Amino acid sequence: MNLFDVYPLNDIEIVKASGSAVWDANGQEYLDLYGGHAVISIGHTHPHYVKRLTDQLNKVGFYSNSVKIPLQVELAEKLGKVSGKTDFQLFLCNSGAEANENALKLASFYNGRKKVIAFKGAFHGRTSLAVSATDNPKIIAPVNSTDNIIFLPFNDEDALKQAFGFYGEEISSVIIEGIQGVGGIKEASVSFLQLIRTLCDQYNAVYIADSVQCGYGRTGLFYSHDYAGVNADVYTMAKGMGNGFPVAGISIAPKFTAWHSMLGTTFGGNHLACAAALAVLEVMEEDQLMENAAKIGDYLINELKKIEEIREVRGRGLMIGIELPEELSQVKKNLLFKQFIFTGEAKPNVIRLLPALNLTKAQADQFLENFKIAIKG
Ligand SMILES: Cc1ncc(COP(=O)(O)O)c(C=O)c1O
Repeated sequence: MNLFDVYPLNDIEIVKASGSAVWDANGQEYLDLYGGHAVISIGHTHPHYVKRLTDQLNKVGFYSNSVKIPLQVELAEKLGKVSGKTDFQLFLCNSGAEANENALKLASFYNGRKKVIAFKGAFHGRTSLAVSATDNPKIIAPVNSTDNIIFLPFNDEDALKQAFGFYGEEISSVIIEGIQGVGGIKEASVSFLQLIRTLCDQYNAVYIADSVQCGYGRTGLFYSHDYAGVNADVYTMAKGMGNGFPVAGISIAPKFTAWHSMLGTTFGGNHLACAAALAVLEVMEEDQLMENAAKIGDYLINELKKIEEIREVRGRGLMIGIELPEELSQVKKNLLFKQFIFTGEAKPNVIRLLPALNLTKAQADQFLENFKIAIKG
């Protein structure tokens, strides 16, 4: 049997990892500023994480949502505290797409409506409705296409007002990333997020904050949307939540009432997933990782802005986009194969930095030095 060949692969096999370092099968060490696509939040093989997962596995790894799982309650309490939303409710699932799918369904159950506002450049995942709300026709299968999604230009307040004026009470929800990741590290403006809040309140639509990539402390706040000073109705999360263990969730405002079987999943919220998510939050609190993300992120952004070959530096905290001119399109490859540094990318020519939140200043300096070398070729 062959693998279904959907991924363009780098010819590298990672066999060992620790913190922000990974090693390939030849013993070559790399600096990891990609974190396996923003997933590694507290660093690879963090000792507390390894111990909590190992201990849990030795007790019980999985049972379904047909029984009480006190770890879920512990996780909900901790997440409420760290995110500053103690009165919200938690539904656990397994991936970012699934989190968004459930958020969109929840909104539709809540107000009985069908239309969703999404934005140009958005990525929300690959399940049916999440992919329909993703601005990439190439990955939307005919069976997923629907005229229930209204795509609007990102940060365009007039277009948003017009759409609400036109569709009004047909609009079920507005889904938006606080910082578009796949779209090239583009930040939603404070006034745009505030306007979404106001219009959703006015029309009883649901504001869904896709925090799958930009959330979980990456920008220095738990949810990047909260820079706007207004709450969303539903926050979706995944990636950094389990530091590599597949776990995702949606944080749901108090005004939503659950009924049995409204949402559901076999694997979501299992014992191991909860142990992973708890270990992440414990380390985030103990080691003050949100503060570190803000501090090291500021430093990196300021230093990068001094490099004149860069066209633009965007982002916040440890979610950084470096837009390069066309002639420097080789820099990402150079960084990986000559300087041994993993970074992410966004088309057409943006390098994305999505490191673990405990990246040190020395590691940031190592990147900056090597980046300047990579630019030279
Ligand atoms: C903003 C955003 N939402 C949703 C997803 C989908 O997450 P998953 O791949 O876990 O389904 C991603 C993945 O990159 C993402 O960046």
